[in-house]
This record gives sequence, structure tokens and C-alpha cells, in this order.
Amino acid sequence: MEFKNKVIIITGAGSGIGAACAELFASKGATVVVSDINLTDALLIVDKCNIQDEKSIAIKTDVTDYNDVELLISETIAKYGKIDVMVNNAGVMNKVRAKTADHTFEDWNNVIAINQTGVFHCLKASLRVMEKQGHGNIVNIASLAGLKASGFNLAYSASKFAVVGMTKSAAMEYGSKNIRINAVCPSYTQTPMLDAAVLTQPGMDEKLLKYVPMGRFGDVSEIAEAVTWLASDKTSFMTGQTITLDGGLSL
Ligand SMILES: NC(=O)c1ccc[n+]([C@@H]2O[C@H](COP(=O)([O-])OP(=O)(O)OC[C@H]3O[C@@H](n4cnc5c(N)ncnc54)[C@H](O)[C@@H]3O)[C@@H](O)[C@H]2O)c1
Repeated sequence: MEFKNKVIIITGAGSGIGAACAELFASKGATVVVSDINLTDALLIVDKCNIQDEKSIAIKTDVTDYNDVELLISETIAKYGKIDVMVNNAGVMNKVRAKTADHTFEDWNNVIAINQTGVFHCLKASLRVMEKQGHGNIVNIASLAGLKASGFNLAYSASKFAVVGMTKSAAMEYGSKNIRINAVCPSYTQTPMLDAAVLTQPGMDEKLLKYVPMGRFGDVSEIAEAVTWLASDKTSFMTGQTITLDGGLSL
């Protein structure tokens, strides 16, 4: 029970990687605040977290709205008194894959608002509390697209490079405050986001898998393992770093 008595907030935890993180943290004894813009999905994941006992809760949050994020933090503090770990996971893909000159303003604004500004909002609100309480651990969910070029995907790429930059800069600022901030950079991982982005196009999965030395997509459980490891005391001397989980794609 590595995370017994620990309070973990996860944004976008109603689906995919965030949901897998919520269930893994809960299985390791944590109290999880399952936050998502989709409350119905978040409630389903809370039920899975609460199989052992009834301590985890769901909170509806739109990470693009700073007031919503402040409410998420203040409601967590009111109920549990602290935040040990914040996992900034909520994210979306571009709706339309297009070259830079054809990129739509709608896609740009939406992806930057959720993936980039959303992470800024969560860092700003949670770091205030963590600095006051004297400890904290933040794991940002970036992407391989935040480390390497990815075509037809400008807003997503820009937003994920920004997440990596925010991880490193904030880690430098808060290293002396007993607060660590790291990021994971997954590539293609089997979730509703991947299904919507590529697998609906016939033959696309085989095309993508040709570039992955391990010959398969990632499983959400594999990403969640890395997130809980970064959030644990096993990585106590590690901050401002990224872990790539990509089946060798970046090689
Ligand atoms: N699946 C992949 O291949 C992959 C690869 C690299 C990085 N990632 C990153 O992992 C994270 C999770 O993605 P996933 O694949 O699990 O996707 P997903 O679509 O399964 O889950 C994303 C969740 O975010 C929530 N969300 C969307 N907008 C929100 C908002 N404004 N406020 C709060 N919640 C919101 C959704 O409701 C959903 O529950 C994202 O940041 C994504 O960029 C995914």
C-alpha cells in the first residue's frame, strides 16, 4: 500500500491513461480525486477506485477554466486537507490533421486551451497549495510529440513541447521547496483518443505500427506504472525530467 494516506488529483481521469492512473493509484492505497469535464465517466472510474473502500471522489472540472481548477483544488483541500500528487493528464488531439498553413484556428485554440493552458492552470493552482503545505509531486502527461517533430499536428505538437518546457521550468523553481515535477512522454497508446485520431482510418494502424520497433501500441497500464513510479518516493532525487514510453518509436 505504497500510497496509503496519499491524496492524488488526476485531471481527465474519466478515460484512457488518466482512468488507468486513477485505478492503479487506488489499488496502491491512494485516495483519488477523479476529475474530468465528463462527470458521468469520472463517476464510473470512482466506482472502480472505491472497490476496497469509499474514499475516492469525482469532481467535474474543465481545465480551460481557471475558476473550475481553483474549485477542484479548494474542494480537495476542504475534504482531505492536502494534495500529495497532481497528475495533469487532460488532453485532446487536433480534430483535423492538416499541414501548418491549413491548420484551423478552431483546432489551434481548442488544443492549446486544453493541453497547454489547462496544464498551466493546474500548475498555478496546485503549486500554491503545495508550497504552503511544504511538499508535493506533480506528473504531467506530455507526449513523444513534445520531444520530436510530428507532422499535420501543429497545435498538438506545440502544446506538448510547452508541457515539457513547463515541467522543466517549474521543477527548477520549486526544487528547493520539496516539490518535484516530472513528465511522461508516451507515443501511440491504446485509448479512445488514439481510436478517434487514427484507427478509424482503414489501414492506418498497420502503417503506424511499421515505425514502432516493438510492433505494438502501448497499453494504458504501462503508462500508469511510470506515472505512479514518478509520483513515488522511489524517484526522490528526480525532477524536471521526461520519461519516454514509445516501444522504441523515437529510436
Ligand atoms: N493515447 C495516446 O496515444 C497518447 C499518446 C501521448 C500522449 N497522450 C496524452 O495522454 C493524455 C490522456 O489521453 P488519452 O489518450 O487517455 O485520451 P482520452 O480521450 O481517452 O482521455 C482524455 C480525457 O480528458 C478529458 N478532457 C478533455 N477535455 C477536457 C477538459 N477541458 N477538462 C478536463 N478534462 C478534459 C476527456 O473527457 C477524457 O476523459 C492526453 O494529455 C494525451 O495528449 C496520449
